[in-house]
Amino acid sequence: MTGTLVDITHVSKTFDLGQGKTLQAVRDVSFAVEKNSICVLLGPSGCGKSTILRMIAGLETATEGEIVIGGRTVDGPGRDRGMVFQAYTSFDWLSVRKNVEFGMKVNNVPAQERRGRADHFLNLVGLSKFADAYPSQLSGGMRQRVAIARTLANDPEVLLMDEPFGALDAETRWLMQELMIDVAEKTNTTMVIVTHDLEEAIFLADKIIFLSSHPGRLKEEIVPAFKQGARIADKEHIIRLDGYSDLEEHLMRLMREEGHRDV
Ligand SMILES: Nc1ncnc2c1ncn2[C@@H]1O[C@H](COP(=O)(O)OP(=O)(O)OP(=O)(O)O)[C@@H](O)[C@H]1O
Ligand SMILES: [Mg+2]
Repeated sequence: MTGTLVDITHVSKTFDLGQGKTLQAVRDVSFAVEKNSICVLLGPSGCGKSTILRMIAGLETATEGEIVIGGRTVDGPGRDRGMVFQAYTSFDWLSVRKNVEFGMKVNNVPAQERRGRADHFLNLVGLSKFADAYPSQLSGGMRQRVAIARTLANDPEVLLMDEPFGALDAETRWLMQELMIDVAEKTNTTMVIVTHDLEEAIFLADKIIFLSSHPGRLKEEIVPAFKQGARIADKEHIIRLDGYSDLEEHLMRLMREEGHRDV
């Protein structure tokens, strides 16, 4: 990790609900995401996690404050950021390989390079054998791996993921989390991942940004010190480390405090 890549300073977001009504979803949030790190946004439902991610993606504008990525202020979507959503977003009429090639085609990457990159990222997410299959022939976890490969193939500086494994069963989710550690290690992609799953947060995060609810404010910034700066690629190992259950308990308390607050 070398320096800050994403800098979020005093960001607030107020939605206009019409008829003179407004809703402040995010209030004065500041944090930084270091280059090559995994930053997890955690907090109860409605605390503004997706809103913050969408502002980083440039899909929403901040009402106040500023988001800077690699020295440039975000003022809209850009190729430096790739987003993976909770819902499967593959093109059903294209093969898996063509899905992964799609963004590169739009960006006029030559056919041979496109093919090579697609195969590289399909291999990375363990889908080489399914390159010629169609998304409808794949399981949910495999479809989400297609989305990850497709997004990575566009070579984003920051990978943004909004509850990417929320729709998957527990076992697949677990394998996907391990895959993301592997992808982070192999590609050095900076990631911002939204979840409300505590275990997922502890497993994936180099840093956890815990948000309080209504409006979303920064409640705590937590670096899981027990990992001692390393990523741990298997779950059986991490849950046995000293400090794991203390952090889980701490996050549970934070979640309970926030979850019971009146809206
Ligand atoms: N486009 C919008 N217009 C109006 N209000 C919005 C809009 N998007 C989000 N909100 C409101 O902003 C608040 C934060 O929403 P957001 O989706 O960011 O929460 P979240 O933390 O991602 O929740 P969840 O965990 O349920 O996905 C909520 O009160 C929501 O109703
Ligand atoms: Mg959300």
